Amino acid sequence: MRIAIASDHAGFVQKAPLADYLRAQGHEVEDMGPATDDRCDYPDFADKVARAVAAGAADRGVLICGTGLGIAMAADKVPGVRACPIQTVEFARLCREHNDANVIGLSGRFVSLEDNEKILDAFLSTDFEGGRHTGRVEKIMREDDPGFAGVPADFGL
Ligand code: RB5
Repeated sequence: MRIAIASDHAGFVQKAPLADYLRAQGHEVEDMGPATDDRCDYPDFADKVARAVAAGAADRGVLICGTGLGIAMAADKVPGVRACPIQTVEFARLCREHNDANVIGLSGRFVSLEDNEKILDAFLSTDFEGGRHTGRVEKIMREDDPGFAGVPADFGL
Protein backbone atom coordinates (compact mmCIF):
# COMPACT_ATOMS: atom_id res chain seq x y z
CA MET A 1 0.00 0.00 0.00
CA ARG A 2 1.11 3.62 -0.56
CA ILE A 3 0.91 5.38 2.80
CA ALA A 4 1.37 9.08 3.54
CA ILE A 5 2.41 9.84 7.11
CA ALA A 6 2.83 13.09 9.04
CA SER A 7 2.63 14.45 12.56
CA ASP A 8 2.96 17.58 14.60
CA HIS A 9 5.61 18.11 17.31
CA ALA A 10 3.61 16.04 19.80
CA GLY A 11 3.45 13.05 17.48
CA PHE A 12 6.92 13.47 16.02
CA VAL A 13 8.65 10.94 18.27
CA GLN A 14 6.46 8.12 16.92
CA LYS A 15 6.45 9.19 13.26
CA ALA A 16 9.78 7.72 12.11
CA PRO A 17 9.41 4.45 14.06
CA LEU A 18 5.88 3.96 12.68
CA ALA A 19 7.07 4.76 9.15
CA ASP A 20 9.89 2.20 9.55
CA TYR A 21 7.43 -0.34 10.92
CA LEU A 22 5.22 0.09 7.86
CA ARG A 23 8.16 -0.04 5.43
CA ALA A 24 9.33 -3.29 7.05
CA GLN A 25 5.94 -4.72 6.14
CA GLY A 26 6.47 -3.81 2.49
CA HIS A 27 4.42 -0.62 2.36
CA GLU A 28 5.59 2.36 0.36
CA VAL A 29 5.68 5.21 2.90
CA GLU A 30 5.99 8.92 2.19
CA ASP A 31 6.93 11.05 5.20
CA MET A 32 5.23 14.42 4.69
CA GLY A 33 6.82 16.07 7.70
CA PRO A 34 7.65 17.78 9.86
CA ALA A 35 11.42 17.30 9.70
CA THR A 36 12.05 18.29 13.33
CA ASP A 37 10.13 18.30 16.59
CA ASP A 38 9.93 22.10 16.66
CA ARG A 39 6.49 23.32 17.69
CA CYS A 40 4.16 23.44 14.66
CA ASP A 41 0.47 23.48 13.77
CA TYR A 42 -1.10 20.07 13.14
CA PRO A 43 -3.62 21.32 10.50
CA ASP A 44 -0.71 22.11 8.14
CA PHE A 45 0.47 18.50 8.17
CA ALA A 46 -3.01 16.97 8.26
CA ASP A 47 -3.73 18.90 5.08
CA LYS A 48 -0.71 17.49 3.21
CA VAL A 49 -1.62 13.88 4.01
CA ALA A 50 -5.34 14.38 3.44
CA ARG A 51 -4.73 15.93 0.01
CA ALA A 52 -2.41 13.07 -0.97
CA VAL A 53 -5.15 10.56 -0.08
CA ALA A 54 -7.93 12.58 -1.72
CA ALA A 55 -5.86 12.91 -4.91
CA GLY A 56 -5.20 9.17 -5.01
CA ALA A 57 -1.44 9.63 -4.56
CA ALA A 58 -1.67 7.63 -1.32
CA ASP A 59 -4.02 4.76 -0.47
CA ARG A 60 -4.13 5.61 3.24
CA GLY A 61 -3.02 8.39 5.55
CA VAL A 62 -1.47 8.11 9.00
CA LEU A 63 -1.40 11.20 11.21
CA ILE A 64 -0.01 11.54 14.72
CA CYS A 65 -0.51 14.42 17.13
CA GLY A 66 -0.74 14.54 20.91
CA THR A 67 -4.20 13.01 21.06
CA GLY A 68 -4.97 12.14 17.42
CA LEU A 69 -8.05 14.33 17.72
CA GLY A 70 -7.15 17.68 16.18
CA ILE A 71 -5.11 16.21 13.36
CA ALA A 72 -7.99 13.91 12.36
CA MET A 73 -10.49 16.78 12.55
CA ALA A 74 -8.32 18.85 10.23
CA ALA A 75 -7.83 16.00 7.74
CA ASP A 76 -11.53 15.34 7.63
CA LYS A 77 -12.16 18.80 6.16
CA VAL A 78 -10.57 17.74 2.87
CA PRO A 79 -13.22 16.40 0.47
CA GLY A 80 -12.85 12.68 -0.12
CA VAL A 81 -11.27 12.02 3.26
CA ARG A 82 -12.82 9.99 6.05
CA ALA A 83 -10.49 10.47 9.02
CA CYS A 84 -10.97 9.00 12.50
CA PRO A 85 -9.02 9.48 15.71
CA ILE A 86 -8.32 5.94 16.97
CA GLN A 87 -6.95 4.71 20.30
CA THR A 88 -7.82 0.99 20.25
CA VAL A 89 -7.38 -1.96 17.91
CA GLU A 90 -11.10 -2.66 17.99
CA PHE A 91 -11.95 0.86 16.83
CA ALA A 92 -9.27 0.62 14.13
CA ARG A 93 -11.01 -2.49 12.80
CA LEU A 94 -14.45 -0.90 13.03
CA CYS A 95 -13.47 2.38 11.36
CA ARG A 96 -12.51 0.29 8.33
CA GLU A 97 -15.36 -2.25 8.40
CA HIS A 98 -18.17 0.23 8.99
CA ASN A 99 -16.86 3.66 7.95
CA ASP A 100 -14.30 2.89 5.23
CA ALA A 101 -11.90 5.32 6.94
CA ASN A 102 -8.95 6.25 4.73
CA VAL A 103 -7.01 8.37 7.23
CA ILE A 104 -6.24 7.54 10.86
CA GLY A 105 -5.38 9.96 13.65
CA LEU A 106 -3.07 8.45 16.28
CA SER A 107 -2.09 9.72 19.71
CA GLY A 108 1.63 10.12 20.29
CA ARG A 109 1.18 11.15 23.91
CA PHE A 110 -1.39 8.75 25.32
CA VAL A 111 -0.89 5.56 23.29
CA SER A 112 2.40 3.63 23.21
CA LEU A 113 4.33 2.97 20.02
CA GLU A 114 3.67 -0.75 20.39
CA ASP A 115 -0.08 -0.20 20.69
CA ASN A 116 -0.08 2.20 17.74
CA GLU A 117 1.68 -0.50 15.67
CA LYS A 118 -1.12 -2.93 16.50
CA ILE A 119 -3.70 -0.24 15.69
CA LEU A 120 -2.04 0.29 12.30
CA ASP A 121 -2.01 -3.47 11.65
CA ALA A 122 -5.79 -3.49 12.07
CA PHE A 123 -6.31 -0.27 10.12
CA LEU A 124 -4.33 -1.50 7.13
CA SER A 125 -5.49 -5.11 7.03
CA THR A 126 -9.23 -4.67 7.50
CA ASP A 127 -11.53 -4.32 4.50
CA PHE A 128 -14.66 -2.19 4.31
CA GLU A 129 -17.62 -4.49 4.89
CA GLY A 130 -19.94 -2.76 2.38
CA GLY A 131 -23.53 -3.99 2.56
CA ARG A 132 -25.64 -1.92 4.92
CA HIS A 133 -22.70 0.43 5.52
CA THR A 134 -22.39 1.49 1.89
CA GLY A 135 -25.33 3.88 1.82
CA ARG A 136 -24.31 5.41 5.15
CA VAL A 137 -20.81 6.16 3.92
CA GLU A 138 -22.31 7.60 0.73
CA LYS A 139 -24.40 9.91 2.88
CA ILE A 140 -21.28 11.09 4.71
CA MET A 141 -19.62 11.85 1.39
CA ARG A 142 -22.61 13.88 0.14
CA GLU A 143 -21.39 16.57 2.51
CA ASP A 144 -18.41 17.04 0.18
CA ASP A 145 -20.68 17.91 -2.74
CA PRO A 146 -20.86 21.72 -3.08
CA GLY A 147 -24.38 21.34 -4.51
CA PHE A 148 -25.65 19.44 -1.47
CA ALA A 149 -27.98 21.64 0.53
CA GLY A 150 -27.81 19.45 3.60
CA VAL A 151 -30.32 17.29 5.36
CA PRO A 152 -33.27 19.47 6.43
CA ALA A 153 -33.19 20.12 10.15
CA ASP A 154 -36.08 18.58 12.02
CA PHE A 155 -36.88 20.67 15.04
CA GLY A 156 -40.17 18.92 15.69
CA LEU A 157 -39.72 18.65 19.43
C1 RB5 B 1 -0.28 20.03 20.83
O1 RB5 B 1 0.00 20.52 22.11
C2 RB5 B 1 -1.63 19.30 20.84
O2 RB5 B 1 -2.67 20.20 21.06
C3 RB5 B 1 -1.82 18.55 19.54
O3 RB5 B 1 -0.76 17.70 19.32
C4 RB5 B 1 -3.06 17.69 19.45
O4 RB5 B 1 -3.18 16.83 20.53
C5 RB5 B 1 -4.32 18.39 19.13
O5 RB5 B 1 -5.39 17.79 18.95
